[in-house]
Amino acid sequence: MSTNFTTRGGRERAIISRHNAYATPFESVTVQFCKITIKQGAAALTSQRGEFGSRFGFIMAAAGSAVGLGNIWGFPTQAASNGGAAFVVVYLLLAFLLAYPVLMAELTLGRHAHGNMIAALAKVSRNGTQRGIGTLMGIVGIFTASLILSFYAIVSGWMIGFGAAYPLDALGATETATWLSEFGLSRNLMLMLIFMTLTMAVVAGGVEKGIERWSKRLMPALIVTLILLSLYVMTLEGAGKGLAVYLVPDLSKLWSTELVFNAMGAAFFSLSLGVGTMLIYGSYVSDEEHLPSLGVQVALVDVGIAVLAGFLILPAMYVAAERGVMIFNEAGGLLSEDTLIFVVLPALFDSMNETGTVLALAFFGLMSIAALTSSISMLEVPVSFLVERFQWGRLRAAFIATAIITAMSAAIVMNFDTLFGLVITVSTRYSQPLLGLALCVYAGWVWRRDVLLKELAKNEEATASTFFMRWWPWYVRFVCPAIIVTILARSIA
Ligand code: TRP
Repeated sequence: MSTNFTTRGGRERAIISRHNAYATPFESVTVQFCKITIKQGAAALTSQRGEFGSRFGFIMAAAGSAVGLGNIWGFPTQAASNGGAAFVVVYLLLAFLLAYPVLMAELTLGRHAHGNMIAALAKVSRNGTQRGIGTLMGIVGIFTASLILSFYAIVSGWMIGFGAAYPLDALGATETATWLSEFGLSRNLMLMLIFMTLTMAVVAGGVEKGIERWSKRLMPALIVTLILLSLYVMTLEGAGKGLAVYLVPDLSKLWSTELVFNAMGAAFFSLSLGVGTMLIYGSYVSDEEHLPSLGVQVALVDVGIAVLAGFLILPAMYVAAERGVMIFNEAGGLLSEDTLIFVVLPALFDSMNETGTVLALAFFGLMSIAALTSSISMLEVPVSFLVERFQWGRLRAAFIATAIITAMSAAIVMNFDTLFGLVITVSTRYSQPLLGLALCVYAGWVWRRDVLLKELAKNEEATASTFFMRWWPWYVRFVCPAIIVTILARSIA
């Protein structure tokens, strides 16, 4: 926590004096320690915290985190199998009524502390017990982010493999292409390693020169590719049927509890909540920015791309069906997730010769980009912790965190059948909502209301009376925890 204070003079003193106003004996020790580090820090400003250079950069980075495999391989088929537009509406409602308020809890806590989740929860705590639980939650968050990355990197590696297989095959390297696109131990390990290396390279570059720079390049490329692909697919035979399945609402499914729970989980995973990803990104936002509107923009981009992906995936599936590809499972539902991406769509591309190669390259390139801008945000969680807690250089922190996560990932690859599904369930079904709940409790109950309101209104006095300021603190205190407890109870039952 002390490292946060080693950087910029004015703000630290302001934070320290505010902090000191209600300091317990333990806190005043911390404060004194901070003062010492400030003196040392003046000589060595190398540990200066990163900060996003522009509003656009932050939105691209945070939306890059949010937009990932979940949006493209999960959302469209989930929507189609769960009542089409009815699901889309429920998803939109949940994204803004549940996920957005939790996103705001993370961004606000992060910017307030200018530090990682452990530092942030400790900073708003008012006694030792709260601080202890906060630290534990922060550690669970770091561990969960690492677990999520360890399975995400395997799947993302497959995207790179398929992306490379198509052009290689067209160039005559058929054997390599087959190796790259068939499930196998050495292939899974190698592709995962390539993906982890790319992730590390971006994160090691730092907040502005790594994460922000690459998000600003990759996200516009992703959006343009997605739009072009869906426009093209829409011109093909059968696309209209897919559009109808996506958009015609089946209202009978609208109030099924399963639909609501599925939509909730999707919204939570999609906005990268719970593990401190958005919290650490929020900590890199300058005090001049108006957080509630930044948060809205990130949520809009995330939801917008999920909805847009539906305009590509469902028409593509029905175009494939038109060409004889099986798109339904035994239960009669649409094939989804990995089968959709690695069986249905490749069958479609294969039926199209050269055009198929170009489409496949564009599509798997798109998936790899979506995956990379998400994985860097996961790796940033442990890396920022190592940098802030142990004052390590970024390069060293990125290397060591990557090495540990790669080892975890390799363990999953080598015990795929037992570990893969288990890790996904533990990290996304249980750990994420539990941590989301903790974040709401810290933002809504532990954090002193006046300090919270001041953080929200920073340099933005006008917001003091807005709708958000009036409702959100109350909402995150009662409504969000109630919803999350309900989901947790359901998924345990
Ligand atoms: N939101 C991303 C997706 O939709 C995945 C993601 C990135 C994530 N960072 C996260 C999920 C942190 C959970 C926690 O694919």
